[in-house]
Order: sequence, then structure tokens, then C-alpha cells
Amino acid sequence: MKTVTTIEEVRAQVKQWKKEGLCVGLVPTMGYLHEGHKSLIERSVSECDKTVVSIFVNPMQFGPNEDFASYPRDLAADQAVCASAGADLIFHPSVEEMYAPDFCSFVDMNGVTKELCGKSRPIHFRGVCTVVSKLFHIVTPQKAYFGQKDAQQLAVIRRMVRDLNMDIEIVGCPIVREADGLAKSSRNTYLNAQERQAALVLSKAIFLGQSMAQNGERSGKVITDAMRKLISEEPMARIDYVQMVDRDSIEPVDFIEGPVLVAIAVYIGTTRLIDNFVFEK
Ligand code: PAF
Repeated sequence: MKTVTTIEEVRAQVKQWKKEGLCVGLVPTMGYLHEGHKSLIERSVSECDKTVVSIFVNPMQFGPNEDFASYPRDLAADQAVCASAGADLIFHPSVEEMYAPDFCSFVDMNGVTKELCGKSRPIHFRGVCTVVSKLFHIVTPQKAYFGQKDAQQLAVIRRMVRDLNMDIEIVGCPIVREADGLAKSSRNTYLNAQERQAALVLSKAIFLGQSMAQNGERSGKVITDAMRKLISEEPMARIDYVQMVDRDSIEPVDFIEGPVLVAIAVYIGTTRLIDNFVFEK
């Protein structure tokens, strides 16, 4: 497994693979890889001939008061995860390699980015769509793998690929959780021991909402109120949102009539964590 840092090197390698008729899978990441990322890489390895993992902390998707500078980074550990999962190539570009000083082209989106994280992180999805488009153009994969934990991101990428006629299959992969339920996230590393314990309130709320839906509750208000009540019983938690939306359009819905996404964002101390479940009637 090789690690390359330039667009030219990735293009040369992928061109060679494509000449040989091989199918290429891409797993876009910001590094600090955990079991969730590993499951994406393993899925790509099992479905594609060659797997490229991009590791790039993308400044464009962080707001001015967010954690770009402190976002955890550990290339050596990431290389070990990629190797053990069977990846073939790591693309680890610098910010300068990805963005020319006079860079001024963006991929932006309405609708799907309006609710949930789009509300509290107004420039986030423009940054995600722009960098993912660039990665798609650089790597030209047949398939790309994204985690269901970032459910709105998955819906946004699916819509972008459809709207802009990108010839790439988007594969959504299940949330991977710690043994006690907390969804795996690179940001879990920000939590101290007390906060780590308090963070369990997210998965508890998700499991509560999910079981209410499974047991026949159809009202979004009843489900999200119960989840909100549970979260507010945890003194270290501060709710950003608890919302039920259509799974694909991310438009708010009051009742479960088709596939819905129930998503939450909660601050534990200063760390903002997200979690969700999808329910299909
Ligand atoms: O999900 C992430 O880690 C990032 O948003 C992504 C898709 C790699 C784009 O920077």
C-alpha cells in the first residue's frame, strides 16, 4: 500500500488500474480513522478491485469558530488502519495541493442542506460538496463509500451525484458503535472520562426513538419530545437539534409515512456529537 500526496500521482496510478480494466472504490475521510472508517474501507475492498482512501482535513467545511486547527491527525496510525483493512492507495494531499491560492469554484446546494447540520453549520455542506467533487474528479472511482452516521452528508452527496450526473455509485454503510452504544467518531477523542460517560445519552435517545417507532408511534413530535426529554436529563448535554425529516429530501416531516431520518446533534461540554436512526415503515 502506497501513500501519495499529489494529484498527479493518484491520476497516474488510477489510469494504470483502469487500463487493466479494474474497478476502483474511493473512501473519502478526514483521517484519525476508527472502526467506522475501517468498515467502509473493508466494504470497498470486498466490492472493488482497488481501494483508494483519501485523508484530508478539509478547511473549507469548517466554520470560523469550529475545530479545524485542533481536529485530530495521526497519519502513521491511519496508514496502519488502511493497510489492515486492505486498502491499495492513500491520497494525503496538502491544503495547497487541493486549493490554489486563487481557488474560487464551489459546489453548493439548496434544499437538502437547509435543515439539521446545515442550520447550525451554514458553510459546511458547500465545503463538503466542493471537496468531494474534487476527489471524485481526481480519483474517478466507480464506487464511493460514506458512513450513515453522517446521514445528512450521505443524502447531500447522493443528491449532488444525481443532480450533476456523476457516474459514481454511492454506497451508504451502517453506523459502527462502541460496545456501550456511543457512535464511533473521530471527535470522541475530545471527551474526558466524565464527558465520555455523559455522551451515552445520544445513543440512549436514538435507541428510545427507534423503539418507539418500531412499536408503532408515528408522530414525529411524540418521538422527538421523548428523545429531547431524555437528553435534557443529562446535565452535561446541550441540544443543538433533535429532528425528524424525510430520509432523502431532508425536509421536516410530522408523521412517519415513508422512510424517515431521526437525527440529533448534542454538545457534550464543547464537543458537538451527532447520531441518528433511519426508520422505514
Ligand atoms: O465525512 C467526512 O469525513 C468528510 O466530510 C468528507 C466526506 C471526507 C469530506 O471532507
